[in-house]
Amino acid sequence: MQLLHIDSSISGEQSISRQLTASIVTHLQHSTSGLEVIYRDLVATPVPHHTPALWQRKIQALSKGEARQALSSGEEAAIERDFAITNAALDEFLAANIVVIGAPMYNFAIPSQLKAWIDCISVAGKTFSYTEQGPEGLCGDKKIIIASSRGGIYNASSPLAALDHQESYLSSFFNFIGVNDLTFVRVEGVNMMGGEQRQQALSTALAQIETLKVA
Ligand SMILES: Cc1cc2nc3c(=O)[nH]c(=O)nc-3n(C[C@H](O)[C@H](O)[C@H](O)COP(=O)(O)O)c2cc1C
Repeated sequence: MQLLHIDSSISGEQSISRQLTASIVTHLQHSTSGLEVIYRDLVATPVPHHTPALWQRKIQALSKGEARQALSSGEEAAIERDFAITNAALDEFLAANIVVIGAPMYNFAIPSQLKAWIDCISVAGKTFSYTEQGPEGLCGDKKIIIASSRGGIYNASSPLAALDHQESYLSSFFNFIGVNDLTFVRVEGVNMMGGEQRQQALSTALAQIETLKVA
C-alpha cells in the first residue's frame, strides 16, 4: 500500500500543518504493515506553475500530437522539464492509496504551491472524465487526509465561516475527482491571543490522529 505525504507550509519547523502531517504518517505507519511512504515538500521542491507553453504541451500530449507554437531550443528544454515534473506529480498521486496533505490557510485559501500541485493532478482522463451525464471523478479508491491549520476560526458555527476558501475549496476539488473518503484534521485559532486556543486545538487534533484508520 502506498501513502503520498505532501507538505506546503512555508513555516518550516514552526509549522503546525507539518507537525500534523508527520504525526498522521507516523501513526499510519505504526498501524499499517507494508506502507510505502513517498514524501513531496512543495516548498523545498515546488512544482511549476502552469504557463501558456506548459498548458499547450499538456494539450498536445492529450490530443496525441497536435502542433504547438515554435519555441527556441532553450525554451523547449525548459517546457519538457516542467512537463516531466507535472507528470511525475500526477503519477505519484495516481499510484497512492492514501494521500496526507498539509494545507495551511493563506489569505483565506491555500498556499499557491499547493494550488500549483492541484493543477498538476487535475487532468481529464486521469483523475476525472467528462461523460454525457456530466463530469465524473475517477479517484473513488483513494483515502485523503488533510491537516488544516489556520490563524482564525472559520468552522461552520463561526461568523467567519463564509471566508473559508481553504477547506471548502479542497472539499470541492477532491469531491469533483471522486474522492469520498476525505478527512480533515484541523487546528484553528492558532494566532489568537493567549495561545490557549492553539494548545487546546492541537491536543484535540493529536487525539483525533490516534483514532485514524486506513480501512
Ligand atoms: C502568508 C500567510 C497568510 C495567512 N493568511 C491567513 C488567513 O487568511 N486567515 C487566517 O486565519 N490565518 C492566516 N494565516 C495564519 C496561518 O493560517 C496560521 O499561522 C497557520 O498555522 C499556518 O499553518 P502552518 O503553521 O502549517 O504554517 C496566514 C499565514 C501566512 C504565513
